[in-house]
Amino acid sequence: MAELALSGQQLLDQVASELAAGGIARPRQVARELWGTVRGQTNVASLLDPPATVSEDDYAQLMALTARVVGGEPLAYVTGWTGFRHLVVRTDRRALIPRPETEGLVELALAKVRHGVAADIGTGTGAIALALASEGAFDRVVGVDVSPEALALAQENGDRLHIAVEWLLGDLLAPLAGPVDLLVSNPPYLTDREYAELDASVRDYEPRLALPSGEDGLAATRRLLDAGRQVVQQGGWIALEVDCRRATATAALAEGFGWREVSVQDDPFGRARYVLARRGTTP
Ligand SMILES: C[S@@+](CC[C@H](N)C(=O)[O-])C[C@H]1O[C@@H](n2cnc3c(N)ncnc32)[C@H](O)[C@@H]1O
Repeated sequence: MAELALSGQQLLDQVASELAAGGIARPRQVARELWGTVRGQTNVASLLDPPATVSEDDYAQLMALTARVVGGEPLAYVTGWTGFRHLVVRTDRRALIPRPETEGLVELALAKVRHGVAADIGTGTGAIALALASEGAFDRVVGVDVSPEALALAQENGDRLHIAVEWLLGDLLAPLAGPVDLLVSNPPYLTDREYAELDASVRDYEPRLALPSGEDGLAATRRLLDAGRQVVQQGGWIALEVDCRRATATAALAEGFGWREVSVQDDPFGRARYVLARRGTTP
């Protein structure tokens, strides 16, 4: 394979300046991640160690990936992976890219329940379900999605990480066979209008099914809080990610449906992002 008269460091400098010129934030780090993708590496140490020489093939691949990022494609789709808690999760256009704030939902949910049965509704890449299964001590973890494409990706992630999750296709709680101790969901929660106003890098690449939820953004959330009363065991918990503009409205909905110990909690960026509630003794 032909080598170029270019060191790895010179190549990364060139890519970083192309990314910077394209308005990409953290261009050096992104350049390293793209290089790691070309080399099939996702561990940080390897990304910090550019090679002495670069082959023509690697150069061409790196330039193609760089053009995709500059063209507006989310980095996690270009590299094909993202970090979620302690896991490396494969990502592609079949499912929404897991966001850092969703890691906080897992943290709060695990602080309430670590045993019994947990379900992640609208699992996408499977990130929440996989984190619950690997960090908790559950007998069973179930991941549900209405998108067969997303569910296939979730299953691939589970197989690759050797984490046992039961993947079920269907509408919200319908596929669940029995009661659960913990119901976690990061459902679609934008209004149709908010969806239309999203940044093109989200709207043009991530699945529509993952984002808007009716005129008020609460259609899926409302259904989870309503039907969840029949699915969550007495004393069990529901933990929802919400849009910060509708956290208070979601908490009021939960109280209206008879959930107890309803609380709104902030994400690590200080935005009201999670609603947690407990099932009382009557449905
Ligand atoms: C905001 S994404 C969350 C994905 C993943 N849980 C995460 O946090 O990265 C919402 C997910 O819900 C799924 N979804 C949308 N409507 C659904 C429904 N009626 N029943 C089950 N899943 C649904 C979408 O396909 C998408 O994967």
